[in-house]
Amino acid sequence: MNDVSAKLVHAAIDAANNAYAPYSNFHVGAALLLDNGDIVTGANFENASYGITLCAETVAIAKANSDGQMRRIIAMAVAGGPKSGEGGAVIGAEPITPCGRCRQVIKEVADLVAIDLPVHCAHASGHETHLLSELLPHGFGPASLKS
Ligand code: THU
Repeated sequence: MNDVSAKLVHAAIDAANNAYAPYSNFHVGAALLLDNGDIVTGANFENASYGITLCAETVAIAKANSDGQMRRIIAMAVAGGPKSGEGGAVIGAEPITPCGRCRQVIKEVADLVAIDLPVHCAHASGHETHLLSELLPHGFGPASLKS
């Protein structure tokens, strides 16, 4: 694991501690690496109306956009698991990968910055990296509207 991706994964694990997930008890954090080295994080944000829950990845991307930083995103990490007692999220042996809706949101960013965004997916003993093109092959994006 290289230093930058390890740092990003740890930022995602830390962000999971800020999740608001009283319904699923599944705490997720996401971290975005910007081209200047800054990191923008997000955590899942649940709602009593379950279906309007916001995922960690979408929160992080919306945060970067609100700060005028979305075009600087060059990598992402995601980490999560069930919260245990007063501790943080327990990161499972298997990595979690972004849900389908988040993959679509990530595609908007990847197309905007014109890179095949690497997504570092944390598990208990490290992380595995998937490019967005692996997570969302044949995706619909901004260019599709012009074809
Ligand atoms: N969740 C995320 O934050 N990101 C994902 O990619 C998968 C799921 C959240 C949504 C919900 O709050 C909880 O995890 C259980 O689905």
